[in-house]
Amino acid sequence: MKNKKQNFRNLFNTPLNMINLLSFFFFFACGITCGITFTSYFNTFSVNLQVINDQILNPQPLSPPSLPPSPRSIIPRLGLNEHIKSINVEHDMSDEELLWRSSMVPKVKDLPFKIQPKVAFMFLTKGPVLLSPLWELFFKGHEGFYSIYVHSHPSYNNSKVDEKVDWGKVNMVEAEKRLLANALLDISNQRFVLLSEACIPLFNFSTIYTHLMNSNENFVETYDQPGPLGQGRYRPQMSPMIKLSQWRKGSQWFEMDRDLALEVVSDKTYFSIFQNYCKGSCYADEHYLPTFVNMKFKNRNSGRTLTWVDWSKGRAHPARFNRQDITKEFLKKLRSESSCEYNGKKTSICHLFARKFTPHALSRLLMFAPKVMQLNH
Ligand SMILES: *[C@@H]1O[C@H](CO)[C@@H](O)[C@H](O)[C@H]1NC(C)=O
Ligand SMILES: *[C@@H]1O[C@H](CO)[C@@H](O)[C@H](O)[C@H]1NC(C)=O
Repeated sequence: MKNKKQNFRNLFNTPLNMINLLSFFFFFACGITCGITFTSYFNTFSVNLQVINDQILNPQPLSPPSLPPSPRSIIPRLGLNEHIKSINVEHDMSDEELLWRSSMVPKVKDLPFKIQPKVAFMFLTKGPVLLSPLWELFFKGHEGFYSIYVHSHPSYNNSKVDEKVDWGKVNMVEAEKRLLANALLDISNQRFVLLSEACIPLFNFSTIYTHLMNSNENFVETYDQPGPLGQGRYRPQMSPMIKLSQWRKGSQWFEMDRDLALEVVSDKTYFSIFQNYCKGSCYADEHYLPTFVNMKFKNRNSGRTLTWVDWSKGRAHPARFNRQDITKEFLKKLRSESSCEYNGKKTSICHLFARKFTPHALSRLLMFAPKVMQLNH
């Protein structure tokens, strides 16, 4: 259990439980709030905690600033440490404090020290990240270029996954904001990817990293859908702040840069309208970001998602893929199915991730993915 592989897997399986959390950390007088907690690690996985702290949450590559020696070098230098150290997820900020803290930006844009830009992979899950062995393979060898944040449903019990768990409408957006806010505390996180436990990568880490880092757009899906499932979810009370003509729908699984992430954690105006009026058959997770981004940050948004999904079955939920669905051809198809625009040029890479894959698909994914996705390095 002490080997790295095992630790990494444990990392995924140790989720965040907000409710336990509070009482737990009050008890130890060293709180975590913000729903991000790795529940059982204190008692069972002390080694694991190390891994979380050093590798993932306090990533190594944040190289200390190389500053000229202080003339008064007898005095221990505090310098910029406070501001460049990635803040551990074990902070004790309330949601409100966290959102405020994470919304701070330095006015001077050029950093006086070097950082290794990272992609923050944020998993919003019901329970554990069930496909973690695949993700483990994906991340292997790229330490320092990514951060991982997992936020599971508050009722998740570490052993039991309740398939019926419903994140709720506004709660899910709150969880997204919480994830973003935590990820923003680490200044080296430059791109932010929201994934579910049913997501898989379609390319190797280098390809995805490069694609995201070099993109001059964000990937928040937004579209206008007439009828009950789109415009029908608009509430007239949202006017005049949000008009029906501004109302949008889209997948909640996004990819965005730091600037947009900052805007999302800072927004209270539009979010409070959703908190107040997006009730009943109104689903904030499908409408808040698409509407907000469409209204305020449209010019730098591609309007499409990077996470492939199959709606072709025409059901209320997208298709799920099981063991027998996973073939080399299927995976290849997802990697180059259509043609998209990327930084103003045509590309065959429209999607970097795909959903929804069940845990039963894992063994065959592990069998084919290394070859098809060139995960081996
Ligand atoms: C977790 O599971 C145990 C055993 O199944 C149960 O007794 C306990 O109430 C659960 N806790 C929560 C917070 O759901
Ligand atoms: C990653 O995949 C790309 C193709 O998408 C390939 O050209 C590259 O060699 C792969 N990188 C590694 C490190 O395997």
